[in-house]
Amino acid sequence: MMVSFILCLLPALLATSAQAATLTCKTCVGSADACRAAQGTCSVDKATGGCFSVAEEITLVGKKTTGFASRCTDYYNLGVKDPVTITLGNGTYLRINTTWCNTDNNCNSAVPEVPKGSTTLNGLQCPTCFALSADPCDSHIAPCTGDETYCIDFAGTAQRGSEISPFAVKGCATASTKEIKVGITLLSALSMFTFTKAISKPAEKTPTSGASPALGKFSFALYLPGLTGLLLVKLLS
Ligand SMILES: *[C@@H]1O[C@H](CO)[C@@H](O)[C@H](O)[C@H]1NC(C)=O
Ligand SMILES: *[C@@H]1O[C@H](CO)[C@@H](O)[C@H](O)[C@H]1NC(C)=O
Repeated sequence: MMVSFILCLLPALLATSAQAATLTCKTCVGSADACRAAQGTCSVDKATGGCFSVAEEITLVGKKTTGFASRCTDYYNLGVKDPVTITLGNGTYLRINTTWCNTDNNCNSAVPEVPKGSTTLNGLQCPTCFALSADPCDSHIAPCTGDETYCIDFAGTAQRGSEISPFAVKGCATASTKEIKVGITLLSALSMFTFTKAISKPAEKTPTSGASPALGKFSFALYLPGLTGLLLVKLLS
């Protein structure tokens, strides 16, 4: 009696433990509405994987793409968990909001919002440039806005479908870019970014306006006759 009870219980126990080890996540790709309506799911090993959802707006050379996606990931611990925004000047930016979870089935069913850019200067500045090939790109100093308090210097490849394009970028970015490392993949709804260079450090303060640059030029002009004099002394001696 006891033995047959245990034998009956065994498959049930096995089934429960197998179920506990996997997690179901919602899947979708496309517009926000498409993602809200989507019914698809994927499953992933709960020990190492999890669910995520992305909302993004990316402009590269004037072409703006907005995308949404939800998926499973096998590498829950390797993801950049916080929203990432990067501003590269000339209307070029990348804004990705990612939400992650590995608690309940379909925990990623809420569609995140696309991060809004800010135009409020924050008193910081970074070398800024964007190139679809050459590393490093030719930068000029540009002011940072909103919560973009870090300067990034990244290079790598962007893959969209079968199209792979190298890139080099410098600009203002959120502190979350510290999590981006060489070899990691930044998940995006429509693209996949991998990095061969990933430097992210706190931005410097914009020098206070007025005196210093002008004074710099002025004092150089003052030194000039002195330097010429030194050169002449050197030549004549
Ligand atoms: C990301 O999406 C979540 C969920 O919709 C939202 O609460 C949050 O404000 C968004 N973050 C940014 C930076 O837009
Ligand atoms: C923006 O465009 C101008 C003119 O094409 C260029 O000189 C400048 O370097 C560009 N800035 C960035 C950040 O790419």
